[in-house]
Amino acid sequence: MTSFYLSKPYQPPQAPAKLPLGKPWALFGGISPDQFMTQYWHKKPLMIRGAIPAFPLSAQQGEPLDSPIPANKLLEFALNEEVESRLVKAKPWSFDQGPFSKQSIPSLDKTNWTLLLQGMEAHHPAAAKILSWFRFIPDARLDDLMISIAGIGGGVGPHFDSYDVFLIQMSGRRQWQISEQKDLSLNPKLPLKILQHFKPEKEWILEPGDMLYLPPHVAHDGIALDPGCQTWSVGFRSPSFKELLQEGLWRLAESLEDNPELEQKFADPKQKATHSAEQLPEELIQQLSSKLKALKLDQINSFLPGITSYLSEPKPQAIFEPPKKPLNPKQFQQRINSGKLSPHPQTRILSLNSQVYCNGEDMTNKQSSSITRAWQALSGSKYLTKTKLQDLDKSSLYEAYLSGWLTFED
Ligand code: SIN
Ligand code: CO
Repeated sequence: MTSFYLSKPYQPPQAPAKLPLGKPWALFGGISPDQFMTQYWHKKPLMIRGAIPAFPLSAQQGEPLDSPIPANKLLEFALNEEVESRLVKAKPWSFDQGPFSKQSIPSLDKTNWTLLLQGMEAHHPAAAKILSWFRFIPDARLDDLMISIAGIGGGVGPHFDSYDVFLIQMSGRRQWQISEQKDLSLNPKLPLKILQHFKPEKEWILEPGDMLYLPPHVAHDGIALDPGCQTWSVGFRSPSFKELLQEGLWRLAESLEDNPELEQKFADPKQKATHSAEQLPEELIQQLSSKLKALKLDQINSFLPGITSYLSEPKPQAIFEPPKKPLNPKQFQQRINSGKLSPHPQTRILSLNSQVYCNGEDMTNKQSSSITRAWQALSGSKYLTKTKLQDLDKSSLYEAYLSGWLTFED
């Protein structure tokens, strides 16, 4: 058990830009990300003791580590309206959404409560660093890092999630029970998604530095055993095909706006006299069909830009603030030469081959080759430095900086 007063905050390292995918990682108990993806990802649970070896090592040396974010600091995030927060109380179950007043957050010595803070990578650099370790999984799949802090007995109850999750124990201990049961029916009488019949099959007590990976739909229940118990969970997004196709199709429909050729009116000089006047004319069907083919609207590649754009949309609660004293293009170029330009923590960037989408927009459309390359570098390595940029003035890169989507690291 960690002591809150004597321990040092753990300082997670930023993962290297090129992750060693074939090498054994302590994070996965000595297997490589390649092996983890083949054997466990989306398939079966994995519990790893000492996934962050610094924790057991420091404990052995009598200098236990604690979470990078102390409990009092973490609780303050729940007062902030820019942070998505929820408070869950057990016995009886209740649920509230933040932001909270100071008085409504239970003190650490109270029991049976947990506070959940979503999207913490945008609010604390340590959370962003932890996420960097998981960048062997495509950015399009990553959702966010949620931190829970709880009093003894606190938890969200037995439930299942429809996405994969890595649960990293960061402070205090938590008891986890899991079950691969088929019956995932929920208790209809409760304000939370809690399983009606949870039948635990496995149980562990996770210490700081331990990690539990769960694929979707594995029932689980985590109960805090120590006051101020912190679990950091790396969560993934699994949009439904309906969502992907609808979003892709809407964007595809919008992109037809830019095609003046489609203003041309339908004409039917070959239409014959018909007895089936009520039927949609064959002539219309045939012409539309060849238009779809000519525009390649019957091919997957036509949908991918819209889908990439959709998946690169920031979370709805993301707030971007323009720089207070914006650099002019010349100063911006100088700053790139000496510093690092990075995406704001709430900015999402995704690539589709050479095209780069940032916060829903195609940033490489009609841009000079140096700007396109700059976006590709930003998308791949998440920063940009020492790059000569042509036509910066009206470029999408400078615009994104002026919108607060990209920021300079100090
Ligand atoms: C928690 O951290 O208490 C809940 C995380 C989860 O069960 O997904
Ligand atoms: Co869960």
